[in-house]
Amino acid sequence: MRIILLGAPGVGKGTQARFICDTYKIPQISTGDMLRSSVKEKTVLGLQAKEVMDSGGLVSDDIIIALVKERVSKNDCSTGFLFDGFPRTIPQAEALLHEQIFIDHVVEISLGDEEIVSRMSGRRVHPGSGRVYHVLHNPPAADGIDDDTGEPLVQRDDDAESTVRKRLAVYKDQTAPLVQFYMEISESSPLCYHKVEGVGSMAEIRERIDLKLKN
Ligand code: AP5
Repeated sequence: MRIILLGAPGVGKGTQARFICDTYKIPQISTGDMLRSSVKEKTVLGLQAKEVMDSGGLVSDDIIIALVKERVSKNDCSTGFLFDGFPRTIPQAEALLHEQIFIDHVVEISLGDEEIVSRMSGRRVHPGSGRVYHVLHNPPAADGIDDDTGEPLVQRDDDAESTVRKRLAVYKDQTAPLVQFYMEISESSPLCYHKVEGVGSMAEIRERIDLKLKN
């Protein structure tokens, strides 16, 4: 199964991606996680990407498309994958079509801006794995510590409120047009487009997505 999770920053894509990937035994391909690991390793790409990411902007399409093409050619993607945070622009989506990488399901998660800002302020992440927590809604067993590794959790540099608001504006300008793009494709191809309300508990949203993918 090949799935795209679409939605504004902080709607819960990474959280739901983990559930879906466990269910369907497919790898999660998060361009955000890939970029953050390049930043951590201080590669040339990481050095280029850091400034853009910290400012809330988007890394250039050429870089992202090359990253994703390389990733989907790996063996673990042979039976499917889930894109989390990709594509994010019309040229990125067109590159998938050009490469004949066809998608079975696009799942859009929708949520209001104020709820997003509030969720982001409580987000904590484990940098090594990308595991995501929330201080109130999904706390780790021990405060500030990753459940699996015992390593410290951090706040992402781009989770400051002013940066989150910039990311939301970038989403509306450059990524939201993908809703129409994929809805139109779904009218004339096997691709299924699903819209899921992002308000509710993580379990409720998981159930909504499960129902869409099973039908
Ligand atoms: P990326 O890492 O992809 O960030 P994003 O899309 O902005 O999404 P987030 O990871 O911030 O949020 P999410 O939707 O995964 O929410 P989460 O599950 O964590 O991208 C970062 C940057 O990299 C971009 O700004 C850009 O610069 C660059 N980049 C990445 N991909 C790119 C691309 N394709 N092209 C160009 N540039 C690219 O949930 C958020 C919080 O809410 C968590 O704390 C979670 O625990 C909590 N939560 C989740 N669900 C619920 C719930 N139901 N109730 C209460 N709390 C909840």
